[in-house]
Parts: sequence; structure tokens; C-alpha cells
Amino acid sequence: METIIDEIYALEILDSRGNPTLRVYVELLDGTKAYASVPSGASTGQNEALELRDNKKRYGGKGVLKAVNNVNTTIANALIGMDATKQKDIDYSMIELDGTENKSKLGANAILGVSMAVAKAAAKSLNLPLYQYLGGTNAVRIPVPCMNILNGGEHADNSVDFQEFMLVPHGAPTFAEGLRYVAETFHTLKGILKKRKLATSVGDEGGFAPNCESNEAAIELIIEGIKKAGYKPGKDLSIAVDNAANSFCTNLKDNYNLIWSGKGKMTSDEIIDLAGEWLDKYPIILWEDPLAEKDYKGFKKFTKKYGDKIEVVGDDIFVTNTKYIKDGIKKNLANSCLIKLNQIGTVTESIEAVRMCRDAGWRYFLSHRSGETEDTFLADFAVAMDGGHLKTGSACRGERIAKYNRLLEIEHELGERAEYRWD
Ligand code: PGA
Ligand code: ZN
Repeated sequence: METIIDEIYALEILDSRGNPTLRVYVELLDGTKAYASVPSGASTGQNEALELRDNKKRYGGKGVLKAVNNVNTTIANALIGMDATKQKDIDYSMIELDGTENKSKLGANAILGVSMAVAKAAAKSLNLPLYQYLGGTNAVRIPVPCMNILNGGEHADNSVDFQEFMLVPHGAPTFAEGLRYVAETFHTLKGILKKRKLATSVGDEGGFAPNCESNEAAIELIIEGIKKAGYKPGKDLSIAVDNAANSFCTNLKDNYNLIWSGKGKMTSDEIIDLAGEWLDKYPIILWEDPLAEKDYKGFKKFTKKYGDKIEVVGDDIFVTNTKYIKDGIKKNLANSCLIKLNQIGTVTESIEAVRMCRDAGWRYFLSHRSGETEDTFLADFAVAMDGGHLKTGSACRGERIAKYNRLLEIEHELGERAEYRWD
């Protein structure tokens, strides 16, 4: 039994924002060693699994030594001797060990670190690339990279309310070409910003964060960038938006206040109408969290109005949790779900969330977090899930590029077998 877990331990490391997170190491009886690092969000949904922080003086309360200790003691004691290829058993053992609804006892960060490191170790021991270990021999679809090139909201200090504007290279023939389309447009946009004397500094996910006078000015800049880079908006490249509407909703329900742009108070209906105007004018093909997580009425209305035209993605509203996704499917609240491993806290539950979406005819959108590390688990996971599209930041910042580079590597490795398409 070479794949038996022999050792598990964790370290406190730093993420891309300079905040502590965990790296978990797993060793198997056959000598295989693997490790995984845990991401961390900023605009989090209320029902996300709990990221355990020390709340002591060090690192402004953000230390993760409690979570590290939970890995090194409680989790290690329970999992050593188990078979690393039994991912579901491993994950559900940790869920049971934790015993809370939101993994608050051991910490979702502790649990996810172990879950990912176990998967990596098992794959390595079996001599399989991670995407193939998790997805099987037919995991050959490379996701369309939805590249975040302009940031606002919680991810930037500027006058744009909507958190992310992404470029979607659905017209490219391959992933490598798609990545080139978006990276070229990123550089072209930088030139445009420079010329207008707008800031070219970047937000947490590497997108630019210029002080545009409005949300609309932000999207106009992007369209200009696409054209100037030599691409056709709507044909080669379209746009995806993540409002992350929780961040400008005062009651998480129906009371919106667009503080960054100074646009002021808006109702749910007004936001839905604004989206309609934009959809008439701009080539937007995906809209994430257009409304806040408790605005079920708004989500339902938005999806009813635009869901046959575009992908309506729920992030904070579903938090990668089958309990909320199931309800969303029943109530037609969206037609797609964002999948973030650390929102739910195990690899197995993330796979279950994907499966639920698939069964319902929904799409699913694989995602990084705004706080990331150089870990490339997400790239392999997206291919394994036959995901179709993922968001993992801009054409800069090493922690984002690491995932894109891993996808280039996977596409190259698959050669002729690799597939790339939006639908
Ligand atoms: P977060 O942002 O990682 O800060 O939550 C990403 C998102 O809202 O999709
Ligand atoms: Zn989001």
C-alpha cells in the first residue's frame, strides 16, 4: 500500500497580499511528497466555510497558527494510515472530525490544504498528472481564460463599483491563442491608460485600477483596448463582469449604494435595468453576482430577463455549497455557479458542486481567489472538471501567471487531444 499517508504537516506562509495562509505537506509510505497552498478571498460571501485566523496581535490578527496546529495534530492523527487515493473518505473524515456546518472548528483553510495536498500526493504516486488523476483520461478540455483586466470595488482603490471586468477570448482556436489575445489586449489597454494619464497600477488580481469617471467609462476603455489590439469585440473577445454586488449593498438584499463612483443609491430593479442597457450596447456574455447574495428576487428577475442570452453566475449567493446551489436550481436564481475550492473547503465537495450544476444543465465557472499563492492546483482542477472556462486574474502577477503557464503546459502535453471552446 504505497499510497498510505505517512506524514502530514503544515507551515504558515504568505499569500499574494502578504497575509498569512497555509501550506500543507503530505508524505506517503512510498516516499512521495507533495504540498498545496491555500487561497484567500476579500469579497467573501456570508455563508462561506470559515477561514480560521488567530485573531492575535501578530499579522494584525490574520495569523493562521491555530489552523497550522490543527493540521499538525488533530487532522494528522486522524488521517495518517489512510489511503491517499480515497479522496472522498479523506475529505469526509475531516468534515466529520470538524463537526460544524462551516468548518469553523478546524478551519476550512486547514482542511482544504490537506485535501489538495492529498490529491497531489496520490496523483504523483500513481504517476499521473493531477488533471488526469482527478478527471480521468478524457479530461482534455482546456478552459477559456476569462482574464480580469480592470478592477474596481473591494479589489482596488478607485472610482469603479463593479469588481471585475474580464476579457473572454472565446473566438480563439486554442487556449494558447486565447491567452495571447487577452495578454495583448492587456498591454494595449496599458498604453491607452498611459496616454490618458490614467494610473497603470494594478489591483489584487492584476487588473488595472484606473480612476475612470464611471463604471461605463471602464467598459468603454476595454472595448477600445480590444479594437486597438486588432480584435473584434463580440467575435474574438467578449466581456464578462463580476459586480460582486455584496460590496455595494448595505443590507445584502435590496439596498444598493454605488459608493466608489458616487452614483449613489440604486434599487435592485434599477441595477437590472442598467444591466439591460449594457447588454444592448456591449458584448457581455457572462455576468457574475449582478446582485447581492440575499437578493433572491433580483437574481431570479435578472436570470429570467437575460439568462437565455448570457451566463448568469452566482458566487456569494451559492458559495460552492450544494445546499445553496440546489435551492438556486429549484428557484431558477441563475444558470451558472462560481466554483471556489476554499469557499466550501474540500476537493470532494467542490466536485460535488460541479456535478450538481452539470446535472441541472447549469454551467460552472472555476475561480481563483483575490489572495492567491503560486500553487497551480486550480489549473489542473479546471481541466479535470471539464470546466470550459476559468478566471484566474490578469496578465501580470506571478501567482496568476503560474496558473496560466500550467494550462499552457497541459495543452502542450495533450497535443492534438486538447479541446478549447466556449459552449
Ligand atoms: P474574492 O474575489 O476572492 O475576493 O472573493 C473574487 C470574486 O468575487 O469572484
Ligand atoms: Zn465574484
